[in-house]
Amino acid sequence: MRWTEPERSIALTSFDQTHRPLVVGIGGTTRAASSTERALGFALRGAEQAGARTRLFGGEFLHRLPHYAPEHPHRTDEQLELIEAVRAADALVIATPGYHGGVSGLVKNALDTLEELRADERPYLDGRAAGCIVTAYGWQATGSVLASLRSIVHALRGWPTPFGAGINTLETRFDSATTCSDPKVAEQLATVGRQAATFALAFNTPRPANAKLAA
Ligand SMILES: Cc1cc2nc3c(=O)[nH]c(=O)nc-3n(C[C@H](O)[C@H](O)[C@H](O)COP(=O)(O)O)c2cc1C
Repeated sequence: MRWTEPERSIALTSFDQTHRPLVVGIGGTTRAASSTERALGFALRGAEQAGARTRLFGGEFLHRLPHYAPEHPHRTDEQLELIEAVRAADALVIATPGYHGGVSGLVKNALDTLEELRADERPYLDGRAAGCIVTAYGWQATGSVLASLRSIVHALRGWPTPFGAGINTLETRFDSATTCSDPKVAEQLATVGRQAATFALAFNTPRPANAKLAA
């Protein structure tokens, strides 16, 4: 996505330069060339162009998370890493493939792990925007799974961004991490990231004292 220089400087100077918002991306599949993870990368670069810092938890990382079991008190290093990152986040972008008409188990397990944020001063995704992205092999699941993912964000007290991206991977290819066969899709993904980042500014959510990630 290309911004004109005036647009870019407005976005960059709008943010408090001592606290560039952190946008955390969660998504992908176990496949090395996951189109879902690549789509998420496009969205996070849109957030960066709006002045945000970003961190991506992709398929490989999500695959290392154990199945979330609330009754077990022990949390793995990976679980704690994800929990602390989301705790410190000013906004999120979540990307899932449509699997059998729903959010994939891999992504849902990561979102279930956020149950650990329930007792925070700012519980779950409270006060945070969450951009939503769905890839699917056809149009039907892109729409239904996007609605489902937004419902999950609502349940977590987050604010789905006005624009959510549904990508039909029968029509759009991501041949590398930085190439997308359809410039309109690339722009839509950047819009998701940009809306998540700019919401962080508009909402101006103060970070809780227990947020541990360094600025
Ligand atoms: C287990 C499984 C279930 C799937 N279910 C659906 C589905 O219900 N509808 C659909 O359109 N595509 C479905 N797909 C296709 C994926 O959503 C699609 O290929 C997606 O873009 C894969 O993302 P990736 O490239 O990040 O792995 C399914 C794929 C798998 C592996």
